[in-house]
Formats: sequence, structure tokens, C-alpha cells
Amino acid sequence: RVSARTSDQVTARTGDIEKAAEVLRAGGLVALPTETVYGLGADAENPGAVKRIFEVKGRPPSHPLIVHIADAAQLDDWVRTVPEPARLLAEHFWPGPLTLVLQRGPRVPLEATGGLETVAVRVPDHPDALALLSAFGGGVTAPSANRFGSVSPTTADDVRAELGDAVDFVLDGGACQVGVESTIVDATGETPVILRPGGVTREALEEVLGRPLAVPESSPVRVPGQHPSHYAPNARVVLVDPDRLIAEAEEAQRRGHRVGLFLPAAHTGTPVTAHAVVEVPASLPAYARELYGFLRELDRRGCDLILAALPAEEGLGLAIANRLRRAAGPRSTA
Ligand code: TXA
Ligand code: MG
Repeated sequence: RVSARTSDQVTARTGDIEKAAEVLRAGGLVALPTETVYGLGADAENPGAVKRIFEVKGRPPSHPLIVHIADAAQLDDWVRTVPEPARLLAEHFWPGPLTLVLQRGPRVPLEATGGLETVAVRVPDHPDALALLSAFGGGVTAPSANRFGSVSPTTADDVRAELGDAVDFVLDGGACQVGVESTIVDATGETPVILRPGGVTREALEEVLGRPLAVPESSPVRVPGQHPSHYAPNARVVLVDPDRLIAEAEEAQRRGHRVGLFLPAAHTGTPVTAHAVVEVPASLPAYARELYGFLRELDRRGCDLILAALPAEEGLGLAIANRLRRAAGPRSTA
């Protein structure tokens, strides 16, 4: 059985923050902890450094990045205008797992936005990320610190396993506390739209805005870079009806698969025949925090097939279901 990690916040040493800031100033790449996942950071205003991010990740250059800043008060430095709903969301949720897409300001090079006239910005809620951003002084573009299409890293060890020497410095700030990426909201207009569900729930956004928001899956907006198979481990991921999950796992195991089973909390303790069993935490925040670690662990244990059921799509369940669907998506590299 795969067990959950401890969840205490660990922070980096002061010397490490200064070193990471120097690497950024010199145009290098720093893996930095955030509350969601680890990011692969570069000076947002250095096009050469930003280009290296794409090379290291193996990511198409048309795929836009998020600019991380130290404080909501800096937002106006990076975007052209801040419509009222965006101002409200920034005030309410920053620092936190919310990314706002707004009109690109002149400070943001097109390399960071994949050529778009909009830019994604957020203030991360992690003491080391904030200390680094303050020490550095500028904006840091950072996608998740994984190779394109694979599972995002939630510990410094995950980053080292994924990127090795390709990154100049890894700032170890412990395990990420939210565990899934930020919620991305297109806030360019008067009616914000969720582009990617994440660490801030749709319900929380709606409460602050005082109106309902479009559900991402039914949203007509195309998000650049949202390919069907993303967040995928090596093992094939198949989504199964919760009532059929245990039977399907045993059947696949009999057929010779090495099955990694996400056992729903309702079945905790039920004996199951599988190569490895993950007991899904009953609480959604705990599930979100552990999700990517579970997928990585099942890969490490040599599973070739991962079976999981979708959680109800409420609260953080929306982001978890989105990531599981993408992990189970077709692997074609369209
Ligand atoms: O939690 C997070 O958001 C993490 C941490 C490191 O901050 N970052 C992250 O970055 O998930 P990344 O690059 O893996 O995903 C960012 C997504 C892109 O896939 C893209 O879809 C969207 O943000 N994005 C960025 N700029 C955009 C823009 N101008 N318009 C629409 N979508 C944009
Ligand atoms: Mg990513």
C-alpha cells in the first residue's frame, strides 16, 4: 500500500534564497517551490533565459508561461489594464493558487506569452517563493518543473528526478501544500472565465464575484497548450466507474497487468488483489496534495496500468477530476 506523506511546511535556508536570486539575475534556471507544484523559473524579462525553459521542458514555444510576482501591488507593472473583477480576485486570493490572464504590459516579452497579447500572472503562497521573488525584485516566469506532458513535481526530489542537471539550482522548500496547479481565470473582460480548474475552487471564485462561472469542460474558450494527454505518468491511466473499480482491478491483474489501484475512501481497508494500492484520502485537500505523488509512486513501483474513479466535481474535486481525465487522455502528440 502507498501511504501519504507528512504535510508540514519546510522552508529553505536564507543563503539558498540569495543564491537562487543570483542564478536568476545571471539568466539561469531555478526550480522553486510554490504552494501548488514546483516551478521551473527564469527572469521573465530575459528572453534568452525564458527560451531555455522551453528547451529544458521540451515544450512547444507557443505554449504560454505564468509570470510570478511578489505582491499584488506589482500587478500594474506587468499588465496593461486591470478590470474591476480581476482587481477583486487579486485582492481576495493573492498570495494563492489563482492565476489571472490579462492584457500583456510592455515589460513582458512575447517569448514568455507564446506570442500572445495576454499574460498570465500570479502571486504564489509559499514563503520561499515569496522570499525569492522579493530578493530577485522582478517577475519570474515558471511553468511546472516537469518535462512536457508528464506529472508535475511536488517535492524537490521529484524535480531532481525529472530534470537533473538541466536546472541550475533547486530551491528545496519541502512538499507542496496544495498539490495541484493554480486555477487559471481569463480576467481580460468584465465576465471572468475559468480556463483551468485548480487550487482555488470555482465556488470560492463565484462567492467573491457574486455570480456563477462557466464550467471549464463546457467552456468554448481554447486554452493554448491544453493538449489532451497531460499530467500523465508512464503507466496507462484508465478511469472506471466506482462500483466496478475493485472488480476491474482484479480482472486486469489476472490478465497479467501490474495494476496500481486508486482505492476510494469509501473502500478503505477492503482487501484487493493489485500490484499496488493507493488509499485515496477522504478529504479533497489531502487528495489534491497527494495526487501527483501517488502517480509517481505507482510508476516507481512498476505498475503498467492505473485504475481510478473520478471524485465528485465539487470544490477541489473539479481540479482532481480534470487532472485524472488528462492523465487518462489519448497519448497522441497532436
Ligand atoms: O500552479 C501553477 O500554476 C504552476 C506553478 C509553478 O505556478 N504553474 C503552472 O504552469 O502550472 P504551466 O506552465 O505548467 O501551466 C500554465 C498554463 C499553460 O498551460 C497555459 O495553458 C496557461 O497557463 N496560460 C499561460 N498564459 C496564458 C495566456 N496568456 N492565456 C491563456 N492561458 C495561458
Ligand atoms: Mg504544467
